[in-house]
Amino acid sequence: MTTQTHQTSTIIDNNSMGSSDLKSLIIDRELTKFFSAYEEAKKPIEVDFRELVDWVPYSDSYTHYIHSYPAKLIKHIPIFFLNSKILVPESKSLVLDPFCGSGTVLLESLLAGHSAIGCDANPLARLIAKVKTTKLEAEELHKTKASIILKAKRFRKIVPLNVVNVEHWFSESTIKQLSKLYRAINEICTGKELDFFLVTFSSIVKKVSYADPNLSVPVKIKPEKYVNDVIKDRLENKIKELNNVDVIGLFSSQSDKNINRVSLLDSVTSNDVTAEVVSGDARKITKNIDCNSELLDSNSVDFIVTSPPYAGAQKYIRSSSLSLGWLGLCEEKSLRDYEKLNIGREHYSKSEYVEPIRFNLSDIDVFFEEVEKENPLRAHINSNYLKEMESAVSEMYRVLKNDKYCVIVIGNNEVCGRKFETQKYIRLLAERVGFYTKLVLVDNIHSRGLMTKRNKTASVINSEWILVFKK
Ligand SMILES: C[S@@+](CC[C@H](N)C(=O)[O-])C[C@H]1O[C@@H](n2cnc3c(N)ncnc32)[C@H](O)[C@@H]1O
Repeated sequence: MTTQTHQTSTIIDNNSMGSSDLKSLIIDRELTKFFSAYEEAKKPIEVDFRELVDWVPYSDSYTHYIHSYPAKLIKHIPIFFLNSKILVPESKSLVLDPFCGSGTVLLESLLAGHSAIGCDANPLARLIAKVKTTKLEAEELHKTKASIILKAKRFRKIVPLNVVNVEHWFSESTIKQLSKLYRAINEICTGKELDFFLVTFSSIVKKVSYADPNLSVPVKIKPEKYVNDVIKDRLENKIKELNNVDVIGLFSSQSDKNINRVSLLDSVTSNDVTAEVVSGDARKITKNIDCNSELLDSNSVDFIVTSPPYAGAQKYIRSSSLSLGWLGLCEEKSLRDYEKLNIGREHYSKSEYVEPIRFNLSDIDVFFEEVEKENPLRAHINSNYLKEMESAVSEMYRVLKNDKYCVIVIGNNEVCGRKFETQKYIRLLAERVGFYTKLVLVDNIHSRGLMTKRNKTASVINSEWILVFKK
């Protein structure tokens, strides 16, 4: 691995960064160095994206924090690429993120002066991404918020909602307040405002539940599990607080914060660019989200930047389950139905992995032959992940224009004690699809809250690999 040193923006402070040309110059100077170093040595280059765009703050900015989401991409990575004139020379280009999650890339595309489209299998992610990139009037939102709260407080009757296991996760008082808020939001709001207040409502659901805030998948706080009396007392107090939490008050303050965030979009994004979530599956990118929509035209996208899921590493649907329940998104489809669309899922019945998956690429096939002997399920989880990622990469190739770039951010993993070189395998598959590898960068993840080690056969990821392909 090669390490590159660089001098970036210490000459410019945040306020003077109005000059997007200057940012592009700095970025392209670094990129040119990376391209030639990679062309020469064909070795991954170690970088730190937080340093490469060191004028970008770590903290909350614009609508990035309207709702939490697991394994969010750090904004520094898309900012670096989206502001490069080498990669995206024209303003108002069309950017695609086929695994858009909560919309980090879509928002940063708008901020960089480009339009964006995204896909995601998780309906909660699609809703957050939509709201994150929608401009709304602060004054109107404040009025609507006041009406919602007034109406919610006046309701006497609770309309029961179909939220699975609701008493397990919430106190009686919380269930009443959430039900009233949900009903008031739906009776008062329509269109973009409805989406905005549903996302704000959803952003407090986990906070007022008995789910452990330190874990992405809901697990009920259990003080009795701890022998340490200090921890036990702290958790018992937390439960007492949660029994009588002021949900409507929390919704009110969260609404104020989100209104403030959304109102910032108006002055920084142009009306000529738009963002839209167009599909629920990266393997089939459509013109819009309607189930009968036509496929997006081939050769129509100017740039792709995306952070796909890892094999067996994040349970996106499970971690959104409390919100999906309250938002009524689990009425027609179950969590299992949603999970089936998820690349990297872990649940398979035995009948699904009778036949081993092969790629006709010896590097990959030899790896799976070894793992199959030890753990056929893990071999299937990972080989099917690669198979499905190959379809997604091939769809990216189809929609991208010739001579344009595609950036994939991915990490290695571990399977049954063996290194699973996701980045290398995705690179091999992308090259087979037709992409040319222009550059490979590695960034060590300092703090992502990205993965928790969940079992003995899968493992924690600590580096991100950035693969830059050209069609
Ligand atoms: C690493 S996350 C992306 C996070 C995103 N960059 C952000 O900042 O919020 C990967 C995403 O891929 C989505 N996903 C999984 N399978 C998918 C599929 N078949 N099509 C589209 N999205 C999928 C997951 O729901 C998850 O949101």
